[in-house]
Amino acid sequence: MLLARPQTTVILAMSADGKLADAARSPARFGSAADKHHLEAQVAAADAVLFGAATLRAYGTTLPITSPALLTHRQAQGKAPQPWHIVCSAAGNLDPNWRFFQQPVPRWLLTTPTGAQSWTVGAAFDRIVVNPLQSAADWVSVFQQLPAWGIAQLAVLGGGELVATLVAAGLVDELQLTLCPLLLGGKTAPTPMDGVGFPAAIAPQLELLSVQTVAQEVFLRYQVRHPPATH
Ligand SMILES: NC(=O)c1ccc[n+]([C@@H]2O[C@H](COP(=O)([O-])OP(=O)(O)OC[C@H]3O[C@@H](n4cnc5c(N)ncnc54)[C@H](OP(=O)(O)O)[C@@H]3O)[C@@H](O)[C@H]2O)c1
Repeated sequence: MLLARPQTTVILAMSADGKLADAARSPARFGSAADKHHLEAQVAAADAVLFGAATLRAYGTTLPITSPALLTHRQAQGKAPQPWHIVCSAAGNLDPNWRFFQQPVPRWLLTTPTGAQSWTVGAAFDRIVVNPLQSAADWVSVFQQLPAWGIAQLAVLGGGELVATLVAAGLVDELQLTLCPLLLGGKTAPTPMDGVGFPAAIAPQLELLSVQTVAQEVFLRYQVRHPPATH
């Protein structure tokens, strides 16, 4: 029997040529106020958000919920004001001076045994989850631990390297992409899914759930079609 794991949604904004950021991997600040509100609403709907260390390195911060309406809604549902913010870093090489570590959000670190050597549970991290993070099975086992900690809804905020791992492990259910009106280019610029990629014949297939246009941006929602379980 398959053990439960969280319902997992990836939320990203990309340029019209499919880049998450410029080739210098600067923080992506090209989304509109409507896109920021959309992202904050997805964060508010989650029990935890997960992001890669390079995303945190780019911004130095995470996105706390500040909208009074969203905070009230979470309170009415009996949820904590902010979801868990989980940073994934194999190396554990994170700068404790980043503003992230002063933000009013609960923080977890997902890391390897080597990465965990640099950190203890305390002011920086409320929980440290240790796993080899080497195979798809490792990732499945991490995700299967999450419901026991009250994480039924997980929002993945990037970047492309982490998303590639999760898609390859069959752990992503939904993809929300905001198509933004600019062209970034650059061979090395991150995309929604980097990693080694899939041959087209076995590429994961998506089902378009909705399309919404707001001013110059297009909000796309896809469901990831999972192959039927084999017994
Ligand atoms: N437009 C958007 O919506 C959006 C959203 C997010 C990010 N971005 C942009 O995307 C860029 C960052 O994305 P990225 O693809 O370079 O990196 P990323 O996925 O954010 O982070 C990569 C890092 O995360 C850890 N990691 C990821 N997958 C792992 C795995 N399978 N096992 C163990 N550790 C893993 C590793 O950390 P360690 O190196 O510490 O071991 C790795 O170097 C930035 O430029 C950011 O601005 C844009």
